[in-house]
Amino acid sequence: MREHESYSEDKTNKDKIKVLFVCLGNICRSPMAEFIFKDMINKKGLSDKFIVKSAATSYEEIGNDIHYGAKDKLIQKNIPFTKRKATRITAEDYNNYNFIIGMEESNIKAIKRIVGEDLDNKISKLLDYSDNSRDIADPWYTGNFETTYNDIVEGCNGFLNYLKDTNIIN
Ligand code: 4NP
Repeated sequence: MREHESYSEDKTNKDKIKVLFVCLGNICRSPMAEFIFKDMINKKGLSDKFIVKSAATSYEEIGNDIHYGAKDKLIQKNIPFTKRKATRITAEDYNNYNFIIGMEESNIKAIKRIVGEDLDNKISKLLDYSDNSRDIADPWYTGNFETTYNDIVEGCNGFLNYLKDTNIIN
């Protein structure tokens, strides 16, 4: 029974593209990326093809909801979001996701410290999908949620284009 249950659960999600956005605290950048990307795929009628979540590399904000500055920005841009609790990425997440997308170089190093070597090439940086690869600054420190928002939109658009160009979606 248990085996059957896990098999059917596995089958449901088997063909989905599983994306985990990752930042340091999981209260600013990665939840913004999660909800901005969900909004993009929803508007394109692609939601059923994806599982999209976000996680932290640090323990600092575990259990906490999205930062009010990030929430205000999402509201201002008409991006729907839900109440949530920050979680930390686990080593098992490496097997559970197809794309693990960090916001800056230090995230990438921290992700690899947690999940180990990136043998399947699943780990990338969000703005590597744009024409101008760079880090996304942490608004927790900069206070600039507009720049963060614009950078995340640029990265998410680039990521969607990458998925189209590589025929992962059509
Ligand atoms: P985030 O921002 O990584 O974009 O969620 C941060 C939020 C909180 C902390 C660091 C970064 N913190 O250390 O508490």
